[in-house]
Amino acid sequence: MRTLRILLCCFLLLGVTVAQISAPTAWTNNPQIESRVDALLKQMTLEEKIGQLITYSQGARTGPGTGRSDYKELVAKGQLGSIFNLTGASATNAMQKIAMEQSRLPIPLIFGLDIIHGFRTTFPVPLALAATWDPALVERASRVAAREASREGVRWTFSPMVDIARDARWGRIVESAGEDPYLGSALAVAYVRGYQGSSLSDPGSIAACSKHFVGYGAAEAGRDYNTAEIPVRLLRQVFLPPFQATVDAGSATFMSAFEALNGVPATTNAFTLTQILRKEWGFRGFVVSDFGAIAELIPQGVAANGMVAAGKAILAGVDMDMESSLYGPHLTELVKSGVVPESVIDESVRRVLRVKFALGLFDHPYTEGSASNGIAAEDLELARKAAEESFVLLQNEGGVLPMKANGKTIALIGPLADDAGQMLGSWSAKGEAKDVVTLRSALTSQVEAAQGHVLYAQGTGILTASDAGFADAVAAARKSDIVVLALGEDARWMTGEAASRAHLDLPDNQQALLEAITATGKPVVLVVFSGHPLVLNWAAQHVPAILAAWFPGVQAGPALSNVLLGASSPSGRLTVSFPRSVGQEPLYYNHFNTGRPADGVDLSRPPTNDGEKYRSRYVDEQNSALFPFGYGLTYSTIAYSPTTASATTASAKDLNAGSASLKVTAEVRNTGSRPADEVVQLYIRQTGTSVVRPVRELKGFQRITLAPGTSQKVEFTLGRDQLKFWNIDMKDVVEPAQLTVWVAPDSIRGTPAQLTIAP
Ligand code: BGC
Repeated sequence: MRTLRILLCCFLLLGVTVAQISAPTAWTNNPQIESRVDALLKQMTLEEKIGQLITYSQGARTGPGTGRSDYKELVAKGQLGSIFNLTGASATNAMQKIAMEQSRLPIPLIFGLDIIHGFRTTFPVPLALAATWDPALVERASRVAAREASREGVRWTFSPMVDIARDARWGRIVESAGEDPYLGSALAVAYVRGYQGSSLSDPGSIAACSKHFVGYGAAEAGRDYNTAEIPVRLLRQVFLPPFQATVDAGSATFMSAFEALNGVPATTNAFTLTQILRKEWGFRGFVVSDFGAIAELIPQGVAANGMVAAGKAILAGVDMDMESSLYGPHLTELVKSGVVPESVIDESVRRVLRVKFALGLFDHPYTEGSASNGIAAEDLELARKAAEESFVLLQNEGGVLPMKANGKTIALIGPLADDAGQMLGSWSAKGEAKDVVTLRSALTSQVEAAQGHVLYAQGTGILTASDAGFADAVAAARKSDIVVLALGEDARWMTGEAASRAHLDLPDNQQALLEAITATGKPVVLVVFSGHPLVLNWAAQHVPAILAAWFPGVQAGPALSNVLLGASSPSGRLTVSFPRSVGQEPLYYNHFNTGRPADGVDLSRPPTNDGEKYRSRYVDEQNSALFPFGYGLTYSTIAYSPTTASATTASAKDLNAGSASLKVTAEVRNTGSRPADEVVQLYIRQTGTSVVRPVRELKGFQRITLAPGTSQKVEFTLGRDQLKFWNIDMKDVVEPAQLTVWVAPDSIRGTPAQLTIAP
């Protein structure tokens, strides 16, 4: 206490404000900010208040408000409080000058942008970043994005997307952290910390936006924007935790989702927006609608016209209208007619102003930075490291990888081997293709440096039916010692928003190319670029090595070459299940058991008797994933001891009180000859409980580095937070149960310990 007081005095003497030294969440309840907000609010007219509740996009995109040319007039009249997709110091400063000097009350604009996996420095896509299982790295990458964006006037990102994605068909699975709420929460917090830093008021910090609240990832049939039906227990257990974690980490803003959740559009869902987000979690920032989503209440069928839509959205808790152009024209009338109390408007404005004050925009409305001409060396280094950690080695028969370059001829074939633009993924903010080093360029220089030779042939396009390039590709393969095939999806057309797929195979004639090259008999390394988990059955049966590369960002080539040639070992792990067939979707590891599990039955062939048939199974496909959650190989071999625990029992009463916990451990050994990073995972299963619980649930993970021949004891703690769940009475508590615990390399392996949670 005394030390704290002395420290505080020092800071005050140095003139450091409380806001600057405060914890990341301190802006949520800062008396200075609150009194400035109140004072300002008293001076505002109703029109000026409504202006703070509107954001428009600069530039062309679809939507009713896009492309209008009167932003400057609106800003000067105090009728527009935010603009997104406007970037660059001079452009944002010029617009800000209008807000600060021409409008009646100098209220700064907040400039937003979708900074999803980097600003100028494009990191791997979020699904790839998740595969690193490295929150510290994700935090650093987000910090780089914040620094670059804020320099150009952008202080608000529409990220992180923390939707749980259990369906491989959904295009936006690429923007997610995958299917698990525990890992998803850890990564969600990392993004927020990176963007917002230790203080939002730091000029290098940007406000995060946790999206899409909530249930968007459960779109039926994986079709984007589609309805989601999520029972409340499942909502609370699986879909809400990453969002709540971001509130606890201080996320300044939220975005409501497009879809109807349990029959109520997320844009008018008072249960999620007000009851859960504000009342239960105490969120103090503001909620922006998704793009044009308030207007979409009309086709969704809950609003007859724009006036009704605007009223329903604001009353449910959507503070800011993105692009529907409905708050501007209708809120005044709705207040005057008594449909919307002015106190509701005041509260929304208060939330927006709170964030603007917290960002320090009132005191420093302009950016003093300028766009840099390129990417700083240390940021490139981080982008390379992130990419290397994100690659998941799915198969490596006969130790085909790493490849030897020395004196060898390597055929590099495929439409993604040398396509710089594709490496930027589906949604790079200000990423530029010219910053990208492709696989062809990096592999060629690394292999030539080792007196080897790379023969390149494109073979085919990403999306083409023509096999005109096959002959050259096959000829190159024949002349080589080994073939690297760079195949996969079109990042912009097949992944991301509005890019759901009903087929998850390699697109168009890429499968045919794969088969033609494999037929040469040369060893093939398949590098798969994708934003969806793909169906890779044929490859798994015929190709010795498969590496999931996702879309790796600016350092795609150097990172891939390092891993393919063995300068570094693959260490990524899947955060989504790779299906054997689209018909298995939604497919996720943390499912419930049924009363008729198919354990012990050979599911690789159709049932031959009733005992095999009357099970929870398909008659024509296996139940399991081809490559499961948590899975990934490395160049070494890793052995796990059985799981052990500090005690065989603990009481639910003590666990609930926070006075007890269990320690579980395993010894993890590098039994091979190469150094390796291992992602050690902790899973649990509870039985004998009041509601069914998943067959396995992730409750911890640690990324460790092991030199050959060394081992490490890895310990996890299981306490209240890890063991509680929403029970039959909808209470989030620890119940007496039989507890199975695995410290394991993935979601299907490991030797468990059996424990008891006593009453
Ligand atoms: C997307 C959001 C995005 C917004 C603004 C919408 O179409 O669903 O994720 O933040 O556009 O660009």
